[in-house]
Amino acid sequence: MNDAPSPTSLERAEKLQGMGCKRKRVEDVRFTQGRGNYVDDIKLPGMLHGDFHRSSHAHARIVKIDTSKAKAVPGVVAVLTAEDLKGVNLAWMPTLAGDVQMVLADGKVLFQNQEIAFVVAADRYIAADAADLVEVQYEALPVVVNPFKAMDEGAPILREDIKDKKDGAHGPRNHPNHIFNWQVGDKELTDAAFVKAEVKTKDLLSYQRVHPCPLETCQCVVSFNKITGDLTIYGTFQAPHVIRTVVALIASLPEQKIHVISPDIGGGFGNKVGAYPGYICAAVASIVTGVPVKWVEDRIENLSTTSFARDYHMTTEIAATRDGRVTGLRVHILADHGAFDACADPSKWPAGFANIITGSYDFPVAHLSVDGVYTNKAPGGVAYRCSFRVTEVAYAIERAMDIMAQKLGLDPVDFRVKNFIKREQFPYNSALGWEYDSGDYHTAMQKALDATDYRKLREEQKAKQEAFKRGETRELMGIGVAFFTEIVGAGPSKNCDILGIAMFDSCEIRIHPTGKGIARMGTKSQGQGHETTWAQIIATEIGIPADDIMVEEGNTDTAPYGLGTYGSRSTPVAGAAIAMAARKVKAKAQMIAAYMLEVHEGDLEWDVDRFSVKGNPGAFRTMSQIAWAAYNKIPPGMEPGLEAVSYYDPPNMTYPFGAYICVMDIDVDTGVHKVRRFYALDDCGTRINPMIIEGQVHGGCTEGYAIAMGQEIVYDEDGNVKGASFMDYFLPTAVETPHWETDYTVTPSPHHPIGAKGVGESPNVGSVPCFANAVNDAFKFAGSKHIPMPHDAYRIWQAAEDLGLHA
Ligand code: CDP
Repeated sequence: MNDAPSPTSLERAEKLQGMGCKRKRVEDVRFTQGRGNYVDDIKLPGMLHGDFHRSSHAHARIVKIDTSKAKAVPGVVAVLTAEDLKGVNLAWMPTLAGDVQMVLADGKVLFQNQEIAFVVAADRYIAADAADLVEVQYEALPVVVNPFKAMDEGAPILREDIKDKKDGAHGPRNHPNHIFNWQVGDKELTDAAFVKAEVKTKDLLSYQRVHPCPLETCQCVVSFNKITGDLTIYGTFQAPHVIRTVVALIASLPEQKIHVISPDIGGGFGNKVGAYPGYICAAVASIVTGVPVKWVEDRIENLSTTSFARDYHMTTEIAATRDGRVTGLRVHILADHGAFDACADPSKWPAGFANIITGSYDFPVAHLSVDGVYTNKAPGGVAYRCSFRVTEVAYAIERAMDIMAQKLGLDPVDFRVKNFIKREQFPYNSALGWEYDSGDYHTAMQKALDATDYRKLREEQKAKQEAFKRGETRELMGIGVAFFTEIVGAGPSKNCDILGIAMFDSCEIRIHPTGKGIARMGTKSQGQGHETTWAQIIATEIGIPADDIMVEEGNTDTAPYGLGTYGSRSTPVAGAAIAMAARKVKAKAQMIAAYMLEVHEGDLEWDVDRFSVKGNPGAFRTMSQIAWAAYNKIPPGMEPGLEAVSYYDPPNMTYPFGAYICVMDIDVDTGVHKVRRFYALDDCGTRINPMIIEGQVHGGCTEGYAIAMGQEIVYDEDGNVKGASFMDYFLPTAVETPHWETDYTVTPSPHHPIGAKGVGESPNVGSVPCFANAVNDAFKFAGSKHIPMPHDAYRIWQAAEDLGLHA
């Protein structure tokens, strides 16, 4: 029997532009013509503008704040300080990590550029000028910027508000600057593995403080209606519903009176998950003045105050046999969280999903311990294009595997392959407690090796090293390999919540009488192309062309409750909700079709965009016909209409993976590098839109390149933040960005309704260690073990100098 779809079915399927189709991004029509609607495009009648006076000190007591000169500036309407906010119980706010954070400096400042006073004025320029006129008298205090010194005896106490608290949100604290200790794995068994180990490595692998720096900074417009009591907040929020609930809880406002709207967002990358003082101050200012108030961060404020990422210092130990089998992994992480613990992780996970650190390898035992500390730096710790601390630990394990391979005298690929979790081991229970859903690492690695002709590259590298030794060239060649496993899709309610709200997601689909429809979700695209891809899922599921489905996100009044978009959770969670809602629509449609065709439901079969009678394909009703009938020819007893909603609580996370290979040439005398090739193979299960996936990989690799090769938020010993502008903070343009080669394998997730895993974060997770390994690989022959990130030209030059490679 030939059960291949008939050409007509194929043609019809193609017309739908469903899953697997490289559908062009529908949102680009407005984005490429300057017709996006961003927060700064929102201009409400009578709107005022707010700006902050910020701290010049990193740690100081505030003796006095004088706002009189600022208030005297014509056009200034109000100047708020902590004293004003105390009146409405908002001088401090809760953080997502169970800590509290000053909204405006209350008695002292804890990091440079901390918010001290909020000036509200007729326009942005007046507000900025007046903010400069706020006078603050400080009494300087000793500063802690080095996390390794934060818990020293006699270290200055930063958080005097909690100095006597023995317990934090995540258990006991053993120093006033200690936030938490979090441990996972079997310590005894792991220690025993190290006692027995034939070969061991131990390295401090630091991942520097960086910042997501979306092109559009954080901003909001808040409008309070004194008559109705409604509070409308337009903001750059990655998780609008969470913001609504947080506002309801901290401002004691009825949640139905709070309307949060995320319009178009110019990139988020984790920076727009949390709640910032700017939002609170704009809201209070609007309530006080009775008119809308806009707050827009500038670039320096964004880079130096709203959530940073990383700042993880990972002492990573691997135990192995002499023939190259890993027998244990032991890791201690010192996590620098800055002045307040405002880390944006699911509530129970103080170090995010750092326990994915066993990566793609079959470690029989492992132990991870993480200590979080306060320092005089900006708060945060967000998932910058990564799923909750995954990129940090992917860097650690992928560097550590390279270092161990070097010690064993093995090729880094061969060492990895020898220790990969095998296809038949999935679902795989890791030593640190995760159940990996599916994977086929050997196939992916082999495809990467074949595509890059890896063994030949190694031969070329060897020849180049010989030429270098003979003095015939000053260029070195590095080959970076990284094989990462991500964990995305937070998440199952059994282990993920934010402020007690389970991390499900949602979708509501309404099909109109003419067979067109609207779908709303609890997610919020910030450039990921949800309007395009979500419609593709629906098109395949219910046979309505993607072009006929309008996708709407970001309005808490209309969208079903969801936990938002970050950490590649949208496809694993909301993507599943979309398929489930569509299937509910389809189930009802089948009943209507059966009624129309006067057959039993079981006598119908689905064919792309229609139900037809089994064995009689000429007797059918298309989804469009069924939609019309849903509003006028429904079976007796059935409710009219064709719509459904699904709240999806995933049974597990999804575990995308990838094999990345980088070829880099480095000029030893200048430290300047050139990425000759960068090959990225990603497996994100079922692919909804291959073109969008490719775009996600390009973007993520570009960010990974920026991090590995230059990004860093640097502080001097006095806590002055250096490099908080694009003069100093590396943001690659098209000129610096390498060419990306993308590839894929498909290993569907067995528990996801359409088999899809997330992809947005993968390229950042995979590319950072790949670049770092390429730089390190270039210098191995000279005895180098580990060169820390970031690998800017000066530091590469310095590494060469330290290795005695300069004349
Ligand atoms: O949560 P976020 O949207 O950042 O990440 P994601 O779930 O990885 O999705 C990023 C984009 O890639 C979305 O437009 C997805 O629909 C698309 N994607 C896809 O086409 N196929 C996949 N298997 C995963 C994501």
